Amino acid sequence: MGNAWISPVDATLTWGPLLLAAGLVDQEGYEDIQAEAREAERLFNEGHYVNSTAQWARTQGAVMRRTNGVDFYNILTKVPVRLFNTATLSDYEKLREMLITNRPYGRQEYNLDTFMNTVVREALGIIPQNVTWGSQSDDVFDTLRGDFMKPVTEGIEKLLNETDIILTKYNGNLDLICDTPGQILWVDRLRWSGAEGYRNAPRLPIWENDRLEGYYKSYGNFRFFWINVAGHSVPRDNPAGSNAFLRDMTSFG
Ligand SMILES: *[C@@H]1O[C@H](CO)[C@@H](O)[C@H](O)[C@H]1NC(C)=O
Ligand SMILES: *[C@@H]1O[C@H](CO)[C@@H](O)[C@H](O)[C@H]1NC(C)=O
Ligand SMILES: *[C@@H]1O[C@H](CO)[C@@H](O)[C@H](O)[C@H]1NC(C)=O
Repeated sequence: MGNAWISPVDATLTWGPLLLAAGLVDQEGYEDIQAEAREAERLFNEGHYVNSTAQWARTQGAVMRRTNGVDFYNILTKVPVRLFNTATLSDYEKLREMLITNRPYGRQEYNLDTFMNTVVREALGIIPQNVTWGSQSDDVFDTLRGDFMKPVTEGIEKLLNETDIILTKYNGNLDLICDTPGQILWVDRLRWSGAEGYRNAPRLPIWENDRLEGYYKSYGNFRFFWINVAGHSVPRDNPAGSNAFLRDMTSFG
């Protein structure tokens, strides 16, 4: 599990504190964002799941307004003004643009749709002409509106309780959407036989080429890797740090 959407209410409630600590909002901005996030939590707790998803989107809107368009996938990106000023794009579309537009590939900047439908399509060589990457994503999101805010932590407990599968969670510390503080909350609430052992396990540094790339903690079949200087797309932002969890997952290298 990378920077995964595991416990949505925990993520949404921790955006404000992270932005405040990073100096990306002031107290007033923080309180605005938290008020929106707490409303998403309330709607969720009362079982209004579709409304909670809509309120989650409004919380994103508050973040975008209060930060002047922080990159939701790496809070330290220097976001180009043209992205924030695009009045024709919804917040959701702006976010999708940010996912990759802020990182040039070769000499060119792509948005994710264009990148997948040109560079990646060509590299794979087997994608039929009538198949377009991302063409169903809006329909999928619409269909899953009632599921989007529901946590999947019970499934993780079940895997830990009932299988011998090793569960690896890694998280880039500059991601906002699936932020590390929000992950820690659900990890600490997991109920499984190793919960106490994990709590007491040491948190160790990750050294790669003699540089500090993050930290990890593990107990039984559960691992957590904190990866430094990485946002949502950890292998892209910090390939060296990614070696640590890839080596652990594959016993290779
Ligand atoms: C949920 O959203 C719908 C559509 O906007 C609205 O009519 C309804 O009152 C909302 N329900 C709650 C509990 O907020
Ligand atoms: C693409 O074309 C093939 C062959 O005509 C067809 O079987 C398939 O359903 C089409 N796929 C889409 C996504 O339209
Ligand atoms: C997993 O096991 C713990 C006890 O170790 C229990 O409290 C928890 O409810 C179990 N979770 C699931 C989803 O079965």
